Amino acid sequence: MPIVVTGATGQLGRLTVEALLRRGIPAADIIATGRDIARVKDLADRGVTVRRVDFADTGSLAEAFRGADRLLLISASVPVGERVAHHRRVIDAAASAGVSLVAYTSTTHADTATTVIGATHGETEEYLRDRGIPSVLLRNGWYLENYTSQLPQILRNGAVVGAAGEGRISAASRADYAEAAAVVLTTEGHTGAVYELGGDASFTLTELAAAISAAAGRQVTYADLPVTDFAQVLAAAGLPAELAEVLADADLGMNRGEMYTDSGHLHRLIGRPPVTLSEALVAALDH
Ligand SMILES: NC(=O)c1ccc[n+]([C@@H]2O[C@H](COP(=O)([O-])OP(=O)(O)OC[C@H]3O[C@@H](n4cnc5c(N)ncnc54)[C@H](OP(=O)(O)O)[C@@H]3O)[C@@H](O)[C@H]2O)c1
Repeated sequence: MPIVVTGATGQLGRLTVEALLRRGIPAADIIATGRDIARVKDLADRGVTVRRVDFADTGSLAEAFRGADRLLLISASVPVGERVAHHRRVIDAAASAGVSLVAYTSTTHADTATTVIGATHGETEEYLRDRGIPSVLLRNGWYLENYTSQLPQILRNGAVVGAAGEGRISAASRADYAEAAAVVLTTEGHTGAVYELGGDASFTLTELAAAISAAAGRQVTYADLPVTDFAQVLAAAGLPAELAEVLADADLGMNRGEMYTDSGHLHRLIGRPPVTLSEALVAALDH
């Protein structure tokens, strides 16, 4: 049952390949793809099949999907305006290759979310449905790492900055989302399912600041900014202007509850409680 993973040169994809290997899938049955395949040389050395894929290049997709049974389509990290076209080419190639299941990493409530990110995922989900290809939607919530990776800066400033108001966020670790993806790719009964994935306990950014204060033993507060001001803060920190606006817009979605879920789907899929915010903070501070 060859399984293709797109974005395997990235963080979530690599973790998914590792989870597939842990679940006993033979390395040669895993096809790890990405543009910069030098980044997965270690996986190739362990016997994983590595194929170079650029979503812009339909020939590379056809070649990579040859003989594949299942596909994990990890949403592209390109500018949001280009994502849907890329995803459509991947889905078309999967259909042509006769893939029996496409698992797509979407976002929480993608069918109703009104953020820019939510809309691109919603369009991709719609295309999957329109193509009639057997699929499963992994609606991944926010990564805990979006915050833990910012800890040095947050501690330096004594502040979490955002525009999410008191909206609740159901974040989880990349590793837990990856494990859920591996479960869906290696067990039966997921075709047509829509999984709203997130941690068991949600938090607001005020609660995030309090959790950081407790874990680090330093006072951190939450500064809630108007969305345009938050976008400017992100741009001033070095993000490209478009990305800064998209991320600030995601905070508005959080404020509207679009990143919240109490489905328990992630817990059920991985068969244990997902890593909590406090656990993630302690682990990140230990490093
Ligand atoms: N839930 C969240 O909080 C959150 C946060 C950020 C992003 N995301 C989404 O989740 C995805 C996975 O997250 P991540 O942390 O693993 O991101 P990542 O580390 O940036 O990995 C992105 C992957 O996408 C691949 N990719 C990008 N453009 C491509 C193209 N044109 N053709 C083929 N492959 C392409 C990259 O491969 P190469 O670099 O080798 O080309 C890389 O392997 C992201 O791409 C983004 O859509 C979610």
